[in-house]
Amino acid sequence: MKLGINIDHIATLREARKINEPSPLEAIFVLKNAGAAHITLHLREDRRHIHDNDLQAIIANSPLPINLECATSEEIIALACELKPQQVTLVPEKRQEVTTEGGLNLKSPKLQETIQKLQDSGIITSLFIDPNLPSIEQSLALGVRHIELHTGEWANLNLMASSNLKHTQHKITSLDFPYPILQDKICNTLKQIQECAILGEREGLEVCAGHGLNYQNVKPIAQIPQIRELNIGHSIIARAIFVGLFEAIREMQSIINESI
Ligand code: PXP
Repeated sequence: MKLGINIDHIATLREARKINEPSPLEAIFVLKNAGAAHITLHLREDRRHIHDNDLQAIIANSPLPINLECATSEEIIALACELKPQQVTLVPEKRQEVTTEGGLNLKSPKLQETIQKLQDSGIITSLFIDPNLPSIEQSLALGVRHIELHTGEWANLNLMASSNLKHTQHKITSLDFPYPILQDKICNTLKQIQECAILGEREGLEVCAGHGLNYQNVKPIAQIPQIRELNIGHSIIARAIFVGLFEAIREMQSIINESI
């Protein structure tokens, strides 16, 4: 199973000071040496972390393939078509959200047109979707060959069941259930992700997964054989503060390898 690393939060740290360190581009060479398969970065409409010149410099100099995440914003899609990363993953985006909260609205009229523009530019196009069976069918109808299953619900349920999040100011109030209910929901969510991966693969899709995956919750997802690739960002960058980026990636890679 391949590991793609999302480097947005290296830029988040840089933007905390608005200077030139840490450099997302420099990080890519560490990522490559640690065994990452590709780099993911999200050019958000508010440019809160990655900026246009990061994208330009990274595409021009990266020794690893680039997966650009972005919304169906005309301006950003035009930039993607010009700079040509190997892949674009279309994601929904709300200005006020802290991170991407759900999968794409696959019925949005703009989506088909955006997919066409990217595919005409020779860019592999993937859709970030909620893990349910209709989303797989709709993705197929939209003519993509790649999907990424949103694991955010899986991650949030696990945080509420097995970490101290429930007792902090960041408690997820919509998931504030007693432990046995959380356990049921965790089982059902995993089953849904598994079913989507099976159907996706059977229909010829390249199935990836990501969002909120961390050292505690990645194993059951990595054990789904139909998932070819995981995209992980925040937990690895957070762990890197304690053990360094290289080691943080190696630790994640070894959990994934042991799960297979
Ligand atoms: N995949 C997609 C499509 C995302 O939007 C994100 C977050 O930008 C990730 C994966 C990585 O999520 P996390 O940083 O929670 O690992």
